[in-house]
Amino acid sequence: METIIEVQNIGKSYKKRRSKEFVHAVSGVSFNVNRGEILGLLGPNGAGKTTTIKMICGLLIADSGAIRINGIDIKENRLKALRHISAVLEGNRNLYWRLTVRENLEYFAGNRGMSRHDTKDQVEENLI
Ligand SMILES: Nc1ncnc2c1ncn2[C@@H]1O[C@H](COP(=O)(O)OP(=O)(O)OP(=O)(O)O)[C@@H](O)[C@H]1O
Ligand SMILES: [Mg+2]
Repeated sequence: METIIEVQNIGKSYKKRRSKEFVHAVSGVSFNVNRGEILGLLGPNGAGKTTTIKMICGLLIADSGAIRINGIDIKENRLKALRHISAVLEGNRNLYWRLTVRENLEYFAGNRGMSRHDTKDQVEENLI
């Protein structure tokens, strides 16, 4: 079967606020997803599910390891890899609460490679 998502030994740490310590959110995670397959990530709160999904979607850069979407390395060609991902609806919060609606739209459009000029037009059109 054709592999569409390859996650190889990825890791991510966050720096704790007002501290020199780090939280090891994801460490040594590897899995493959084949075309047409449905995969569920299960784990207790804080296990690193969201962090893993964010790295696959190019919203966070993994500290270590490799992620390939349809064979394209997300670190080498993020925008090309992201063309194979449509929407991410995680269930709880998908938007950044501290940003306005406009800022959220601008952030996600920019993340997907839309120019500032096109983003401005699209945001205006979509907020009417
Ligand atoms: N932006 C951040 N800054 C610092 N630490 C973070 C940040 N985001 C997540 N963490 C920490 O990283 C770890 C993994 O968090 P993550 O949100 O990936 O887990 P999760 O499995 O999605 O949890 P939940 O089931 O609660 O959604 C947790 O210890 C969390 O507190
Ligand atoms: Mg989560």
